[in-house]
Amino acid sequence: MLISIHPFIRLSASPFFRRGIEGVENQQINPLNPPLKKGEAKEKAINGWKLIKERHLFSFCLILTFYMASSPAAELQNSHQDALAHFKPVMSADFKGMLKTADAAAGKEFFMRKCSSCHDEFKSKTHGKGPNLWNVFGRKAGTAEGFEYSDAMKQSGHIWNFSTLNYYLTKTERAVPGRIMNFRGIRQDKYRAKLLIFLSSMNDTPPVLPD
Ligand code: HEC
Repeated sequence: MLISIHPFIRLSASPFFRRGIEGVENQQINPLNPPLKKGEAKEKAINGWKLIKERHLFSFCLILTFYMASSPAAELQNSHQDALAHFKPVMSADFKGMLKTADAAAGKEFFMRKCSSCHDEFKSKTHGKGPNLWNVFGRKAGTAEGFEYSDAMKQSGHIWNFSTLNYYLTKTERAVPGRIMNFRGIRQDKYRAKLLIFLSSMNDTPPVLPD
């Protein structure tokens, strides 16, 4: 970036310098420019320099702002949010098969080990470290009343169902970047399948399994 400004500075700075400094040192007389009076040349050179500083400070800030706005980090963040908004999680046929045969009791056992330190398994409106998960199927992410969610969760736009929960519980940070749930995710499909079947039973009207 600096390299691109450099010739620009030289180009526009030189006439000010030439006129100002030559005027002071040689007192040259240009037929188009009348000779400068004593002190006037110096003042002109100083004014010229001030002008350069003002102009270039402004262009420097302008270029820096454009650079920051189009920097790789900013682009990455914007494209990430775009990707989330348009993302539709897909479940493989294999995983759907696993859901059909998964054991809810084993899912509950997994829930008690991995999730119950922050979420309980009861129908209630009270929250622990995490929000209450009763009726989580069909809930818009981040909307259980009385729980302080992260902005990331509130703005994620997910509606919880088998595929979005499966996506979230695989890698929580990927599904909701900036989430405050201190749990990375469950790598193995068979554990997630059991857990999802148990979670779907924590509902007034349990959801239908995907075909
Ligand atoms: C260390 C505490 C902790 C553990 C362990 C934990 N969670 Fe969470 N969970 C949270 C917090 C905190 C949030 C709110 C996240 C946010 O606002 O970013 C949350 C949010 C959620 C949500 C979104 C709920 C909503 O209302 O949008 C689901 C679903 C969820 N957790 C499921 C689980 C499951 C299933 C497990 C076990 C595999 C689990 N969590 C383990 C703390 C935890």
